[in-house]
Amino acid sequence: MSALKIKGLSLVRADGVTLVDNVDLALAPGETLGIVGESGSGKSLTLRAILGILPAGITATGEIACTARTAMVFQEPATALNPTMRAGDLVARVWRRHHPGRSKADALTAATELFEQVGIDRAADRLRAWPHELSGGMRQRVMIAAALAAEPEVLLCDEPTTALDVRVQAQILDLLRDLVARRSMAMIFVSHDLAVVASVSERLLVMRRGEVVETGVLTEVLAAPAHEYTAELLAANLGRRLKSESRESRESRESSESLGSVTR
Ligand SMILES: Nc1ncnc2c1ncn2[C@@H]1O[C@H](COP(=O)(O)OP(=O)(O)OP(=O)(O)O)[C@@H](O)[C@H]1O
Ligand SMILES: [Mg+2]
Repeated sequence: MSALKIKGLSLVRADGVTLVDNVDLALAPGETLGIVGESGSGKSLTLRAILGILPAGITATGEIACTARTAMVFQEPATALNPTMRAGDLVARVWRRHHPGRSKADALTAATELFEQVGIDRAADRLRAWPHELSGGMRQRVMIAAALAAEPEVLLCDEPTTALDVRVQAQILDLLRDLVARRSMAMIFVSHDLAVVASVSERLLVMRRGEVVETGVLTEVLAAPAHEYTAELLAANLGRRLKSESRESRESRESSESLGSVTR
């Protein structure tokens, strides 16, 4: 049983250029899948195809079978949030869309609970905050609360921590791990950063130039990558980690993400 199954998905631009080529993907209920690949490899377009929000001029062929409710968390909360809507109203509005007939007061109560679940303290006060009054991390928590208001069975995350500094990034990754476990949600987590993807995924799918080059159980792929490109990503990650270790103090190293903690 899959919550989501994609078979032979190809995405083609109006001028005939293939952007995503024959992608297969399956996601079981409650499973976490990481998609990693360099910029332009087709990660975001694949997520958009799943949600049915492809940009104009891009044609999809193949099959997408999705029986689950899905919601998406986008990369850049500063632009994804409506600047003229208070944080609580945004979450309440999504909640009401999924709970037709319920009152505005019920929606604000639900938004308060969702704020608490995503670790926003003083939730009742923060409901009235404008997006520009919140830090980047807080804004991303609001985006996650808005996605949860749709009660998704599959959460799609497109580089949700890329715009954040390492310490806040680690907090948001912790939150996502915790939410996925508590709610038994499935998740697809997309990033160009293998260490980040590895820290939240059970299975890994590696994309390059629109194609899937490798897929498998995370620990197995990391232990023995079958494709040269995966090996390169892994080597680049280890190299970066070594560099940062020689630079950072032990204390800050322990709070930053590391491949070591997920491959044990
Ligand atoms: N609206 C669009 N119209 C035409 N081409 C597009 C459009 N959006 C994306 N593309 C092209 O499709 C390819 C895949 O883009 P996509 O955004 O899926 O990459 P990505 O893997 O998410 O990259 P990044 O890591 O930079 O976010 C790229 O070559 C990109 O230029
Ligand atoms: Mg992208």
